Amino acid sequence: MTERRLFLPEQPAAAAAASCLDLAQALAAELLVLVDEGHSLDGALLARADRLEALGPHLRAVCRDVCFGVLRHRGRLRAMLRPLLQKSAPQPLMLALLSVAAYQLLHTRTAAHAVVDHAVRAAVTMTHPAVGGFVNAVLRNLQRRRAELETGADATPEGRHSHPEWWIRRLRRDHPRHWKAILAAAQGHPPLTLRVNRRRCTVADYLERLQQAGLQGRALEGDAIVVEPPCAVERLPGFAEGLVSVQDASAQLAATLLAARDGERVLDACAAPGGKTAHLLELADLDLTALDHDPRRLGRVTDNLRRLGLQAELRCANAADLAAWWDGRPFDRILLDAPCTGSGITRRHPDIRWLRQPGDPARLGQTQLQLAAALWKTLKPGGTLLFATCSLFSEEGPSVVQAFLAAHPDARLRLPEGPSFQEGWVLPDALHDGFFYALFERH
Ligand SMILES: C[S@@+](CC[C@H](N)C(=O)[O-])C[C@H]1O[C@@H](n2cnc3c(N)ncnc32)[C@H](O)[C@@H]1O
Repeated sequence: MTERRLFLPEQPAAAAAASCLDLAQALAAELLVLVDEGHSLDGALLARADRLEALGPHLRAVCRDVCFGVLRHRGRLRAMLRPLLQKSAPQPLMLALLSVAAYQLLHTRTAAHAVVDHAVRAAVTMTHPAVGGFVNAVLRNLQRRRAELETGADATPEGRHSHPEWWIRRLRRDHPRHWKAILAAAQGHPPLTLRVNRRRCTVADYLERLQQAGLQGRALEGDAIVVEPPCAVERLPGFAEGLVSVQDASAQLAATLLAARDGERVLDACAAPGGKTAHLLELADLDLTALDHDPRRLGRVTDNLRRLGLQAELRCANAADLAAWWDGRPFDRILLDAPCTGSGITRRHPDIRWLRQPGDPARLGQTQLQLAAALWKTLKPGGTLLFATCSLFSEEGPSVVQAFLAAHPDARLRLPEGPSFQEGWVLPDALHDGFFYALFERH
């Protein structure tokens, strides 16, 4: 990633942080341009980690919040800015900076005059003194004409829902009764959900520990607790000692559905960073192989298991290439938490919706099918394979199931039942990410 021109002095003193808002705005704009160019937001944040660090804690938090917020509302922000930019065609960095300021004006409590004044300063520093008046005029007009611009944004699906139009069309096709609720859920802030490590404490005990630490927790289904309001992970009591892990409640359903029992041989075929691996091992004493083809991500499985005091055999290989990793001993149960578009978790990763392309769901569905077909050969007769994706597109759910069943007469489908599931889908709401689950039993 190439560096852009951006003046950034040494770490500003905390007291001066508010007067340096332009630094956070400028860096956020730069990060957003990297996402426009095809980088993930996580990747962009990592690439600019030193610059973020230099902002200090307050401005760093502002910068991160702004990046997530702009991406979550990008469709609408751009639709509202468009009529104000008809006579000019701003460069990507300028458009990103205007989106940053527009987000702050429309969605945060930062004083409007501070947002505008600092955005002007950031624009001048990043580009040219002559642009100050332009930025000031656009942002003042945005405030003045807000109601009219909101109405205009509502006229297009992208402006109304802040997702690409193709994405909205697919959700409408696949979830005719729920697509609006799905889109609305993606616009909220994600909950902080914990999984209690049953080997070390109970849900009731941990709720008490949260209270002692001055935090509010609420039990959800199974081992899940939601912390409201969310806090930094470092504030969670006993986190370093492995009492809890951060994991969405929908993701926690995987280990329960696979229902592995003591002594069984289990494969977690796409394991990194190891959230579900760890949950499986917290629930039973297993002979578990955790496989992933990404060595860097596999390192995070090691870290997670160490923190939680759990053990598995780790293998770095392409799961579909059996010759590269399988010793020929069949598994009782297999979890295939397959690579997917992540359309069910776009609230946590709002960059996803802008980075994915219309052909991605079908392409990834093919990959998922190939992985399932290869892994099926390693499953014992009588064994169970759980297919999971955090996607809401049918190409990565029911279509894979149909194609798999057609090619595997020895497979029997069991869609999960219960209040959380609708034909295998877990639809997102305030407390759940979107997922798809299907169980295949081999006879
Ligand atoms: C959805 S993530 C898994 C999340 C993980 N199960 C958890 O709960 O923490 C998918 C993972 O599949 C891995 N992956 C993708 N293609 C693979 C392949 N052909 N073989 C092995 N791992 C693969 C990716 O590196 C990624 O870590």
